[in-house]
Amino acid sequence: MNQPKLEGLRLNVPAYLKHTRLISWVADIAALTEAKDVYWCDGSTEEYDRLCAQLVAAGTFKKLNPELRPNSYLAQSSPSDVARVEDRTYICSAKKEDAGPTNNWMDPAEMRRLLQTGETALFKGAMRGRTLYVVPFSMGPIGSPIAHIGVELSDSPYVAVNMKIMTRMGKAVLDVLGEDGHFVPCVHTVGAPLEAGQADVSWPCNDTKYIVHYPETQEIWSYGSGYGGNALLGKKCFALRIASTMGRDQGWLAEHMLVLGVTSPEGRKHHVAAAFPSACGKTNFAMLIPPAGFDGWKVTTIGDDIAWIKPGADGRLYAINPEAGYFGVAPGTNRLTNPNCMDSLNRDVIFTNVALTDDGDVWWEGMTDTPPAHCIDWQGKDWTPQIAKETGAKAAHPNARFTVAATNNPALDAEWDNPAGVPIDAFIFGGRRSTTVPLVTEARDWNEGVYMAATMGSETTAAAAGQQGVVRRDPFAMLPFMGYNMSDYFQHWLNLGAKLQASGATLPKIFCVNWFRKGADGKFVWPGYGDNMRVLKWMLERVEGQGQGEENLFGISPRYDDLTWTGLDFSKAQFEQVTAVDKAAWQTELGLHGELFQQLAYRLPAELTATKAALEKRLSA
Ligand code: OXD
Ligand code: MN
Repeated sequence: MNQPKLEGLRLNVPAYLKHTRLISWVADIAALTEAKDVYWCDGSTEEYDRLCAQLVAAGTFKKLNPELRPNSYLAQSSPSDVARVEDRTYICSAKKEDAGPTNNWMDPAEMRRLLQTGETALFKGAMRGRTLYVVPFSMGPIGSPIAHIGVELSDSPYVAVNMKIMTRMGKAVLDVLGEDGHFVPCVHTVGAPLEAGQADVSWPCNDTKYIVHYPETQEIWSYGSGYGGNALLGKKCFALRIASTMGRDQGWLAEHMLVLGVTSPEGRKHHVAAAFPSACGKTNFAMLIPPAGFDGWKVTTIGDDIAWIKPGADGRLYAINPEAGYFGVAPGTNRLTNPNCMDSLNRDVIFTNVALTDDGDVWWEGMTDTPPAHCIDWQGKDWTPQIAKETGAKAAHPNARFTVAATNNPALDAEWDNPAGVPIDAFIFGGRRSTTVPLVTEARDWNEGVYMAATMGSETTAAAAGQQGVVRRDPFAMLPFMGYNMSDYFQHWLNLGAKLQASGATLPKIFCVNWFRKGADGKFVWPGYGDNMRVLKWMLERVEGQGQGEENLFGISPRYDDLTWTGLDFSKAQFEQVTAVDKAAWQTELGLHGELFQQLAYRLPAELTATKAALEKRLSA
């Protein structure tokens, strides 16, 4: 009786499923999209292998040489579908001011007409000729009080297998949902219906794209793209945009943050959560290997991209990684920049838009000093170093990605799957800035930390479509991922801090970092990667009340001798280059903070304007 028929379409509802609201929603979407078939993912390895084989047969996947890269695949996307599309991403709240000035907004009724109900609604018939995959997933350990459940309906088997790696996916999630459990409905189509007899392409997608969120009803509708955050709806759409609104309403935080554990040689363990904009080295930082001279220190990964953080009964903030895998940027990753990541990628990986070597393995810019003599680039064309020299062609797309399970990471934290999460001792905020912002500054209090995070700027990268290398304000590294009004979000952070403080809790310290200052020669001055441990150690000494530093205009910074330099030749002059505060540059910078605050003036917390005024006063003193 669990098998309602839709004009010949069997819903194929598994016998064990009793969630009538879920079943009728799947029936509605199957009817709207005219899917050819419905398949319920159980999340098994057998299913994963079968879908991957199907993707190989369809030409979407190439199986890599099992001797070199066991159980791994390469997908090459359409050149028009290679990154998140921020200008096509919408927050359709009932009121425009609740989406705020940093989000694209459309009236929800109008958007529903465009996507679902209008005469030419885009989702009507969008899955014709394709199977609708029902992908039930848990963001966070199944059953954790910090976790939440979603169900993605997608016509992309590429999405289904990626979701298997990126989330806890399948039957176990439906078991938790029971007969009436709450889930966030996520609908995704590549927007490429197949008419009878029409041959498919290896990467179906549509030039028209809509990535749409309805915060009031907690729905996600994504049309036209098969790539990354546009299509794997558990990640940016749910875990950040929708979850941020859930956090606002329920008193917790959904953040674009990695979470890592640091254990000292004496066995003391701390946890930090760090926000950086896309493609600024979050995965590298989350998998950091302490440098020479740091014997006995250990860094372990809880998450590399997103943190859900809820206050515990003791007033501390506890974080989980809602994801179960990493969807990381491949170019630039190598044995020096991130050995743990390279080890994670030895097997069981889905690569997207990297190059295929002649022996059936993968390569990307920066993987090795010497490029292969020949490979097939991400667009399926011949690539040689000579061609690259002549045409500038990249072997891998700059936003090429790997999808791999967290359990492949040799530095995975023992607590990564703990349903209770880990207590956070410090927050770190860092942008990519070639000038102005010093290596590390500690906020003197919570509000000053919120100000630092709110005014963060960063040079744009290839993770999003659009111009690269221009500084844009990226508050909390959340600009592309905020599900509601940015000023209300600042207020939410301030309120949460005030509430925890009033309860007598010690708040995490807040730091602002910049690994990316450049010298006159245009080269990075700070070595970064493993050497970021030197900064991390100082921060944790501060958390423990041990580390020394000095007050400056913006907060507290270490002096040269306050950092540990064993094993690194880094002169005082170089330290000066990455820490100097140029007053004129900061006058300009504060002017830019002012521009941001003007843009966000509606409901901007007074605490932030007051903090800015205090900074200005100190700067001009
Ligand atoms: C990501 C991003 O994919 O931030 O993590 O763009
Ligand atoms: Mn990210």
